[in-house]
Amino acid sequence: MPDTTFTPEAAIDHLRAQGVVPPDADATARSLGGGVSNHVHQVTWDDDCLVVKRPLPNLAVEDDWPADVERVHNEAAAIRAYDAILRDAAVEARVPRVVSETHEPDHVVAIECAPDGATMWKTDLLDGRVDAGVAAAVGEVLGVVHDAASTDDDVRERFASKRPFEQLRVDPYHRTTAERHPDVADAIHAEIDRLLDTSRTLVHGDYSPKNVLVDPDGAVPWILDFEVAHWGDPAFDTAFMLNHLYIKSIYNHGQHAAYADAADRFWTAYDDAVDWDIERETVAELAVLMLARVDGKSPVEYVTRDAVADALRRVAKRTLRGDAETLPEFAALARDEADAL
Ligand SMILES: Nc1ncnc2c1ncn2[C@@H]1O[C@H](COP(=O)(O)OP(=O)(O)O)[C@@H](O)[C@H]1O
Ligand SMILES: [Mg+2]
Repeated sequence: MPDTTFTPEAAIDHLRAQGVVPPDADATARSLGGGVSNHVHQVTWDDDCLVVKRPLPNLAVEDDWPADVERVHNEAAAIRAYDAILRDAAVEARVPRVVSETHEPDHVVAIECAPDGATMWKTDLLDGRVDAGVAAAVGEVLGVVHDAASTDDDVRERFASKRPFEQLRVDPYHRTTAERHPDVADAIHAEIDRLLDTSRTLVHGDYSPKNVLVDPDGAVPWILDFEVAHWGDPAFDTAFMLNHLYIKSIYNHGQHAAYADAADRFWTAYDDAVDWDIERETVAELAVLMLARVDGKSPVEYVTRDAVADALRRVAKRTLRGDAETLPEFAALARDEADAL
């Protein structure tokens, strides 16, 4: 059942009750939609604009997928952590400022809007506009945040709970996929154990092109959507982003080389910004995530051709069986499948 209890008008009322929208202001609101896990509305008045986000207790996918609504506070805390690190490091990237946060009766946050005309990077990528410069910027941002957060004890304590990560990622992606593919279940369970045993830094948890907005005036990316943030394995984030680029490289196989180059640029920029080497971990996680985005609880909506889904399954399973351990080896498997389509 869709949860229709938080309408765009309710978002205006919420901001008025918080004293954020003045009583005499003429405010309008529209749903930004898109997300499966939240009501997200944009409210504008005078020259102001905010995005209001309220989590759904049950995610809008075909399968049953419950999750705690307190995760929205995780989001606000992670935005603040990212903001502090990016400002300190003087990196050309932004996160939206948190303007209000309420706990009772509604768990809601309101955040600054990205500039007018900013586009979702996913839309550009699916339309075949593959800007490797954005990929490099997004890789650098992730590396800088992973590196700086790894030595921050306050951040480690604040994000110690892996509950949002288990509810929103490990259960619906990894465990569901293991159940649906018994032939590689052992390898997936080994990867789950490795993932959950690794606690190194602040992990975004949803670092995908859908959560990157590109400013129309330049390459400054806006990073969004932090509800799955937790202290854990940095390879989850690198694998998550690379997964989206490689899935698109097979889906839109005519432009395979452009997506593969973007993936390379992302990885190189990330790797330059951190002290550790997580290439093998990234490949191991990438294999599980690729299979999960075909057969887990949240499959990518644009892979509708069986031939593409099968190609993705083959890349994932060959990697899980040990055919690829490095990113160039993984890239070669993806390229062979793209060439054959
Ligand atoms: N601060 C913002 N400025 C502009 N657009 C935003 C902002 N926050 C979210 N959006 C838009 O709303 C969509 C859904 O928001 P998001 O935080 O990603 O929620 P969900 O967790 O449901 O995916 C984003 O993909 C983006 O297009
Ligand atoms: Mg999102």
